[in-house]
Amino acid sequence: MKVNSRILITGGGSGIGRATARYFAKQGAGVYIVGRRREKLEETAKDYKNRITVIQADISDESGREHIAHVVDRPLQMLLHNAAILGPITDLTSIPEKEWQQVQNINVNGPLFLTQALADRLHHARIMHVSSGAAHYPIASWGAYCVSKAALFMMYRMFREEHSLPGALFASLRPGIVDTEMQAHIRSGDTARFPHLHRFHEFYKNGALTAPEEVARFIYWVFTATDDALFEAEEWDIRDERYSRKWRAATNESEV
Ligand SMILES: NC(=O)c1ccc[n+]([C@@H]2O[C@H](COP(=O)([O-])OP(=O)(O)OC[C@H]3O[C@@H](n4cnc5c(N)ncnc54)[C@H](OP(=O)(O)O)[C@@H]3O)[C@@H](O)[C@H]2O)c1
Repeated sequence: MKVNSRILITGGGSGIGRATARYFAKQGAGVYIVGRRREKLEETAKDYKNRITVIQADISDESGREHIAHVVDRPLQMLLHNAAILGPITDLTSIPEKEWQQVQNINVNGPLFLTQALADRLHHARIMHVSSGAAHYPIASWGAYCVSKAALFMMYRMFREEHSLPGALFASLRPGIVDTEMQAHIRSGDTARFPHLHRFHEFYKNGALTAPEEVARFIYWVFTATDDALFEAEEWDIRDERYSRKWRAATNESEV
């Protein structure tokens, strides 16, 4: 399974975004990666200098999105809205307004207005939002994140409903619990504010976290091996056993 098309991945400097960028590059795609830390992006791009283009930009900032739109001067076939932050681990009664807004600006406004900024390069593109279980059920002390992921999930459904971007298709995908910087941030919380903290330490200790490289294979398969109806039929979940044998078999010969 090889692709010769172009994808833009936000949050390409670490975790799921990094692994996905390298996987697509290995398969022959042209990949734009976006993030705020240049050195992390450069690390992702090493070994793939001719396929991966680094764009240092903040998606929550209008000038950052304009910069991305300036660099991406050709049509994109795929867009992965992956960048997000968890934000402060605290209850809603004490969350500072500034930090609340930062989470919504990155996790919700970023994807919406980046899709707008790139709209004329996204005709007939496949656009995927990286979702989370947190979009669908509350996790005490993750209020800003849960609300932002619920909003992002509704945004995907709205885009699907409105068909306002010619020929574009929208998907949403839950990657499971993945061994990334975000999980390290979760484990750094304190039990007084975060009642479920011990569970996340246990997941880590017991090796229950999914490797980002595995999520990359799943994302690749959903983008490149599904027909249009299946791509946007319902939210994808890496734990969905109806598809796991298919995507594992289709992608297993290529490592990141
Ligand atoms: N890990 C999990 O268990 C898990 C579970 C469910 C869903 N997810 C979702 O998976 C996605 C990827 O997260 P991850 O786990 O791979 O964590 P991660 O390693 O922390 O990745 C997040 C990336 O987003 C980038 N980013 C954050 N704010 C940005 C901004 N304003 N502009 C541009 N880039 C920005 C970060 O780079 P810079 O800091 O350099 O900008 C970072 O590379 C997120 O949407 C997350 O919600 C993760």
